[in-house]
Amino acid sequence: MMINFVRIFLALLFTTAYLFSVDMDQTLEAAELQGKSHTVTWDKYSLLIDGQRLPIWSAEFHYWRLPSRTMWMDAMQKIKASGFNAVSIYFDWAYHSPKQGVYDFTGIRDIDALLDMTKQAGLYVIVRPGPYINAETDSGGFPGWLQNTTGKARTSAPDYTAAYREWLSQVNPILARHQITRGGNVILYQVENEYFGPDRDANYMQDLIDKAKAGGIDVPTFHNDVNLGGLWASGKGAPDLYAFDSYPLGFDCSKPAEWGKVPVGIEKGVRAASPTSPIFIAEYQGGSFDKWGGSGYAKCREKTGPDFINVFYKGVLSQGATLVNAYMGYGGTNWGWLPGATYYTSYDYGASIDEAIRLTPKAYAMKKIGYMLQTVNSATKTEHVEVKGTAVTNPALTVNARRNPDHGTTFWTLMHAVSNSASDETTKLKITGKDGSYTIPQKPDTSIRLNGRDSKTFVSGYSFGAQRLVYSTSELMTHKTINNQDIAVLYGRNGEDGETVLRYAAEPSVEVLTGTVTHAYDNKTGDLRLNYTHSGMTKVKISGGGADRNLILWLGTDEEADRVWMNETERGPVLVRGPYLVRTASVSGNDLALMGDTDRSTEIEILANGISSVTWNGGKLPLAAAQDGSMLSVLGGPPEIQLPELTGWKFKTEAPEKEINFDDSGWTTAKADNLRMDAYGYHYGYVWYRGHFKGNGQETNITLHANPGDYGRYHVWLNGTFIGGSDSPETFKFPAGIVKAGQDNVIGVLAVNMGHNQDFESDEAWREPRGLITAAISGATSPTNWKIQGAPGGENIVDKTRGIFNTSGLYGERKGWHLPRFNTSSWHDVTLPHDWSEASAPGEGVSWYKTQFTLNVPDDVDAPIGIHFDKPDNKKIRARLFINGWNMGMYMNHVGPQSTFYVPKEILHTNGVNDISIAVWGEGTEDGGLGRIALTPYGVYSKARGGSVAAP
Ligand code: GAL
Repeated sequence: MMINFVRIFLALLFTTAYLFSVDMDQTLEAAELQGKSHTVTWDKYSLLIDGQRLPIWSAEFHYWRLPSRTMWMDAMQKIKASGFNAVSIYFDWAYHSPKQGVYDFTGIRDIDALLDMTKQAGLYVIVRPGPYINAETDSGGFPGWLQNTTGKARTSAPDYTAAYREWLSQVNPILARHQITRGGNVILYQVENEYFGPDRDANYMQDLIDKAKAGGIDVPTFHNDVNLGGLWASGKGAPDLYAFDSYPLGFDCSKPAEWGKVPVGIEKGVRAASPTSPIFIAEYQGGSFDKWGGSGYAKCREKTGPDFINVFYKGVLSQGATLVNAYMGYGGTNWGWLPGATYYTSYDYGASIDEAIRLTPKAYAMKKIGYMLQTVNSATKTEHVEVKGTAVTNPALTVNARRNPDHGTTFWTLMHAVSNSASDETTKLKITGKDGSYTIPQKPDTSIRLNGRDSKTFVSGYSFGAQRLVYSTSELMTHKTINNQDIAVLYGRNGEDGETVLRYAAEPSVEVLTGTVTHAYDNKTGDLRLNYTHSGMTKVKISGGGADRNLILWLGTDEEADRVWMNETERGPVLVRGPYLVRTASVSGNDLALMGDTDRSTEIEILANGISSVTWNGGKLPLAAAQDGSMLSVLGGPPEIQLPELTGWKFKTEAPEKEINFDDSGWTTAKADNLRMDAYGYHYGYVWYRGHFKGNGQETNITLHANPGDYGRYHVWLNGTFIGGSDSPETFKFPAGIVKAGQDNVIGVLAVNMGHNQDFESDEAWREPRGLITAAISGATSPTNWKIQGAPGGENIVDKTRGIFNTSGLYGERKGWHLPRFNTSSWHDVTLPHDWSEASAPGEGVSWYKTQFTLNVPDDVDAPIGIHFDKPDNKKIRARLFINGWNMGMYMNHVGPQSTFYVPKEILHTNGVNDISIAVWGEGTEDGGLGRIALTPYGVYSKARGGSVAAP
């Protein structure tokens, strides 16, 4: 109610301001909002900040999947540079709460610092604190301790209510402080996630909303509805806005060429559910997760590459979406025990920015669309245009048209009639609008082409600066006014025709600065028609013609446009062409300071208002002047870097817990009819059980009801003798002569928890037990007394810096073998590859490898590094990798697909000594051991200062 009232009031208040702003077609930059308080409202077209329409082009990011604050900032800058103006963040309850009542928001959990960084990077933020988040993470974000409540989760059950209120009481006030209404940059707040299922509880949803408001949340709230189901759009429990998610390609990357179709009927669906909401896709497929045994992220990235971005993102924008969040924008790493059941360590997701925080071609594809949306503000208020009859002359193609009702600017999105078709088609397109009707391109023997999977959005009837764009069959990326010249950047695929028509009062003069362009002026209409083939970067200068300012056109190929960067400064826009990345631009006096990275030596071209000198990463650039008023220079590329071999390995076998005389007096007592590890505060990773029974000599076997999760494993020993292993409930025979009559006998069990399930369907699937559940010994006449031991301290975590997901219950972990500086002088020297049989280590047991290495990566070089495992011969191993004590992943050679593990800077000392420890557990069916381990660079990027290379 309150928000609606405020909305109406503000709509009235800002009508005048808005009338002034529409023709400017400027978008509010997050940077302009620093420190002031603002309002967020909406209507059926878009979100409005201070009454001004704003497209939301957002990238999903999970700080808990990147345990390095330095790299948070790196990721934020790269998200912003990739043309996104917002970041959407899930907050993982489990990551902050090891125990009921205990919360940690420090170090790598410092979300205050994270939100400050998002603001510094100039991004808006969509916050999504759950309580349930799904996200392929353990229990979908529920903390381990919640397992020991009994009320149904995601309902109004009293113990669940008490639990989530505790979390929200902690997190909401932090998020509230960062809201745009209080001078921050948080603009939207998500309640729950994909909450559907027969038992969905409106009181629970309403309480989440009420709790948010009571905690100070006053930006609009929304829910992420699964696949436009129309849930929580109105009535009790409905947040302010309706939003939904969509994953049209699904999650199997094994056949990258196989595509689903672009979702259709979005506008109708949203209007039916909520006539007052803008079209808001809270999660739109930005890649795909992959599972144990999957096909790997290279295939996911191929499947959802730039062609997917073009077809599927333009496909929803052309249906009126004005808020779109790509899930994921940067995926990150399921380090430690973060992955939910079935998922492996990397969460690269095939996203625009890869796990090693590198821009991929997808980021550039997103950037081109994002720049257009943030430049052409008319796109935030459009209505569907019914195109009658044959708008396209080729029936294999179709067009979606949308028009801004206030000033007629029209967006023509051309796609294949069958949206996932890969055929090569050419067509002419019939367009109408304020400037007249045209069949485009007009030039005979030229056409618009969709060669394979592609979609293009053409803008017509659009005024910018002092110019009137009648239409272009090149796509508009951005335009700015710099040094009293209008400049527009348009692009198309290499080799394809382009036709751009501008209108002038009199014939202007046209100067082709680079490339080949023909032009013709029509006195009757005032149309200046330019024709060209997209090839490299073509530049044209148009002057006179009655326009107040000259126009510079940059007509580039896709690849040229990829390397065009826009930044806003107090002195106005800065356009840069050339490098791999421009992070920031700032002006002081007449000096422009650019910060960025190169992946090779490159020319750099700069357009900025009234600038006389330019620095690149702090070093002054020698400048030359170009014909179009820009400044030219050259940047150096990255050097080669040398990574050391990993040698000097030390080796030690463990698992003394299997032995009869091991001292377990300090362990937790467990009940034979409820051995679930969670019941005893051991929620993640490896856990040991020891069952003592007084023997009678008649015991024949033990039946263990166990559940280690998908691709999990448990091993069973009787008085130190291995009696078998499995991944599911099983009966293990006692070999004759091992049970000692009249004496204490010990069953030792080592189990792994491969991650709890999620609760996607709100059906308590996340509660599926892990570890042993029950145990029964046949022939036993005395009870078995069980003890259990997992991570040191259980929920009372010992390693508070690395947190609950880092360390679990292996003997070596409990004794700190994974930590740097652990003394290995008594361990054996080995070389890799290594077989356990050489060291008489049992194939079913656990053994550790440990060494150190020194890195000397120069500070001005960004060289993301991974640890690569060579596949060992004839083995089945699960290896846990620790770098400087941080648990950076699990390698399973016999399951795959992952064999390289990214380690972010800060965890990895790129200038200093590093400790690597690998805990290997053998399957027991083959010899154990480890293949060669190597450091692998993902790429090398230079952040060197400018000035080292002469100007062209
Ligand atoms: C959505 C869910 C996300 C994530 C995604 C798949 O359904 O909201 O949390 O699980 O699917 O990656």
